[in-house]
Order: sequence, then C-alpha cells, then structure tokens
Amino acid sequence: MYEAFYGMRHTPFVRGIPSNALYKTRQNAEVLSRLSYTAKNQLFAVLIGEPGTGKTSTLRRLKDELPESEYMVLYVSDSRLTPRSFYNYMLNQLGCKSEFLRNTARNALHKQIEIMRSMQNRKAVVIVDEAHLLPKEMLEEARFLLNYRMDSENPLALILSGQTELWDKLRLSAYRAILERVDIECFLTPMDFADTKQYIQSQIQYSGHESPIFTDDAIRSIFDFSGGNPRLINRACSQSLIYGSQMKQNCIDSKSVDIVLENEVTGMSQ
Ligand SMILES: Nc1ncnc2c1ncn2[C@@H]1O[C@H](COP(=O)(O)OP(=O)(O)OP(=O)(O)O)[C@@H](O)[C@H]1O
Ligand SMILES: [Mg+2]
Repeated sequence: MYEAFYGMRHTPFVRGIPSNALYKTRQNAEVLSRLSYTAKNQLFAVLIGEPGTGKTSTLRRLKDELPESEYMVLYVSDSRLTPRSFYNYMLNQLGCKSEFLRNTARNALHKQIEIMRSMQNRKAVVIVDEAHLLPKEMLEEARFLLNYRMDSENPLALILSGQTELWDKLRLSAYRAILERVDIECFLTPMDFADTKQYIQSQIQYSGHESPIFTDDAIRSIFDFSGGNPRLINRACSQSLIYGSQMKQNCIDSKSVDIVLENEVTGMSQ
C-alpha cells in the first residue's frame, strides 16, 4: 500500500518477517541463549510474556538458529489440543502416521525420539506455544514426555510458552508438580524507549528504505501509545506509513502519528 511511495522492497512491521531480520534486544538475546541452553542440555523451560511481546517470534528464531543436523524441533500451537492429538501432531511432524489410541500414539512418539537420539544423533526439542490456553491434563501430558525413561537424562527438551496466565497457573498448588520440574524460566517484557527507537529503525532498514522515516518526536508518540509492545508498535507504524504515503510525507512527525493514533484508539474502543 505504502511500499511503492517509500521505495520499499519488503513490507516492514509485519508478522512474517524472516527470523534473521528480527530485532534482537538485550532481553531477546538473553532469552534466546537460555532457550538454546535448554535445547542443548535437554531441559524444561517456560517462556512467559504479555500478548504481542515476541514469544512466537523468539521461538521462530530459536528454531532457525538450531542446526538441523543436531536438532529436531517439534512445534505445537493449538488450544484445542488433547493428549492424543498432541502426540499425533508430533508424529506427523516426524513423518509418521497418526495413531488412534493415546497410548499407542505416545509409545510411537517415544520410539521415534529414541531412533532420532541413537541413530541420527539428533536431539528433540518440543515447543508448546499458547500453553496458557491448555487444560491441566494437557500440560501434565507434555511434562510426562520428559520422564518416560528411567535414567537421569531427559529424552528431549521441552519449552512451554504462553501469556502471563500460564505463569499464574503454574504457581497454583495444583500445578506444583509441573512447576517444580521447570529448569529455566524466561520472561519477555515490553521494550524501553531506546529499544523501541532501534526496533523501528531496524524495520525501516529491513524494508530497504535508506533513511529514517519517523522523526524522534514521532517515535516518542509511538512509544507512548504502545508502551514498547512490538505488536502495538507495528500497528502504530503501519497505520502511520499508510497515512504518510497518502499525505505524500517523506518524513513522518508526531503530528501525523497522533492523528493516526487518535483514530486507532477510537477504533479500538469500538
Ligand atoms: N524482536 C522482534 N523483531 C521484529 N518483530 C518482532 C519482534 N518481536 C516481536 N515482533 C513482532 O511483533 C508482533 C508480535 O510478536 P509475537 O507474535 O511473537 O508475540 P507473542 O508474544 O507470541 O504474542 P501472543 O501472546 O499474542 O501469541 C509480530 O508481528 C512480530 O513480528
Ligand atoms: Mg504467540
């Protein structure tokens, strides 16, 4: 829509940007290194953050950064997951057929993981995204994956990722058995002003536009609106770019951003 006006080769501020073009804050780097450690040492980690803070993006980056020759990453994100569909989902990702019974599916998955470990020398990393939506039965089933073997080493790495309700849930006494087994905790919080500024600049750079488009005061307005939440920053920037291109503005200042955000806030409250 606005790409031609700004001479952009790629659309910035969208969900599907390649994982290597994602902006890495210090916090992102720290979380990624904890999750890589989880994968390498076959541990159990939880990744927690408010909606839109970049959990799925971080998991996408982790998947792309783990060498395929050493890791097999199985990603599941489905709030209606039942234990049987959970196992079948993963079996399908491993190229195996679904099984009708939960126990058969579970055993088939264990077998596949063992084959990968012993014959291909690859480590399995199971990622369950949107885990705050899952019922207790399903969270426990995921956790059981860690100790189907009798020895001390986990057969796989498990990462549960979800919004803050997941953390609140895990701290309830009914979930203690799961929480006690968590080895690594990672939290994603919104960006500060400096990171928001860098984030916006990195997205403009990724688009192929050569100079900054947003003025400093425009970025301040975007930060005030978004509180540093990447999804809200994206929304504010995309809407401002649409407006800026319609108004033929090469530089977008806070006056334009405020007009756009005024509409956004009214639109959001409807
Ligand atoms: N580090 C980053 N670099 C570039 N874009 C990012 C980054 N982090 C998040 N985003 C963008 O912000 C938006 C929200 O990110 P994402 O979907 O990963 O959040 P989430 O925490 O998984 O949200 P939810 O809880 O709703 O699932 C996406 O459009 C994503 O591309
Ligand atoms: Mg997500």
